[in-house]
Amino acid sequence: MNDLDLFLAESNRIVDESLEHLIPSGVTVPVRLHEAIRWSLFAGGKRFRPALLFAVGRTFEADEHKLLRTAASVEMIHTYSLIHDDLPSMDNDDLRRGRETCHKKFGEATAILAGDVLETLAFQAIAEDESLTAELRINLIIELARAAGTPYGMVAGQQLDLEAEGHIIPIEAINRIHGLKTGSLIAAAGKAGAMIGGASEIEIGAISNFSTNLGLLFQIADDLMDITQSTEFLGKTAGKDVAAKKATYPSIYGIEETRTIAAAVYNDAIACLQPIEKPTSILTAIADLTLERTS
Ligand code: IPE
Ligand code: IPE
Ligand code: MG
Ligand code: MG
Ligand code: MG
Repeated sequence: MNDLDLFLAESNRIVDESLEHLIPSGVTVPVRLHEAIRWSLFAGGKRFRPALLFAVGRTFEADEHKLLRTAASVEMIHTYSLIHDDLPSMDNDDLRRGRETCHKKFGEATAILAGDVLETLAFQAIAEDESLTAELRINLIIELARAAGTPYGMVAGQQLDLEAEGHIIPIEAINRIHGLKTGSLIAAAGKAGAMIGGASEIEIGAISNFSTNLGLLFQIADDLMDITQSTEFLGKTAGKDVAAKKATYPSIYGIEETRTIAAAVYNDAIACLQPIEKPTSILTAIADLTLERTS
C-alpha cells in the first residue's frame, strides 16, 4: 500500500467508527428506519468527502478527534443526497453502492424519511460536538447548511439538474449544476477541515478554491465513468445519464475533450494550493486520484 492508500484506509476506518457511534442501532425503534439508514450508509461508499476533510485537517495539524463528527456529518448529508437522488421521481435508480437502492429495499416512504433524518442527524452531530467551541460549531453548521441547501448548495443543484434533463444547455449552466449539486458539499468538506484546523483566512480561502475545483473534477469524473465503466465496477447503473438525457460534460464535448477539460480543472485545483506554506502532498495525492478516475 502507498501512503495515500494507507491514509484512505485509516480515514475510512475512523469515519465508519464515528458514524457507527452517531447513528441509532439497527434494533432501535423505529427499526425499519434505522435499518434503511444503515443499509445505505454502511454499503462501501468511497468516503471521499470525509477523507478530504481529514486530509485538510491534517495539513493544518488539527486535533484528530475534533474532525470526527464533522467528517461523519458530511458523509451523512452526502448519503442522504444519494438516497433521494435515486428515488423514482428523481434519477430512478435500482442500484447504489453495489446493492439495491434504499427505496427498492425498504419502500419509497422509508427511503424519503431515511434521507430526511440523515440530514437532521448530521446537524445534530455538529451541534452536540463538545470537542469544539460553540462559535466553531455554529460556523460549521452555517457552512454545511449553505452547501447542502439553496440557493448556493446541493439541493439547488439537484433541482437544476432535473430541470435540465432533455435540454441542450450552455456549458456555464452545466458548470453551475455540477458546482452546486456536487462541488458545494466537497468544497464545504475541505473548508471545514481548514476551519477546525485553525487555518488563517487566506489559507481557508485557498482550500475553499482548491476543493471547489476538486468538486467540479469529481463530478466530471462521475459523468465520464457513467459512460466508460461497467455497472459492476461502479456499483450503480452505468449509462444512466445518456438514457435520462442528463446535462453532462461528455454530452457536450465527448469523452476525449472532456478528459482534456478535466486535466485543466485539475491544474486549476493544484494552483489554488500555492498560498499554503504547509506540506500539501496529501491534498495533491487526493487530486491525482480524482483525475485518475477520468481516464
Ligand atoms: C456519487 O458520489 C454522487 C456524486 C456526487 C458524484 P460518490 O462517487 O462519492 O459516491 P459514494 O459515496 O462513493 O457511493
Ligand atoms: C448526484 O449526481 C449528485 C448528488 C447530489 C447526489 P448524479 O445523479 O450524477 O450521481 P449518481 O451518478 O447517481 O451517483
Ligand atoms: Mg442525479
Ligand atoms: Mg443519480
Ligand atoms: Mg452520475
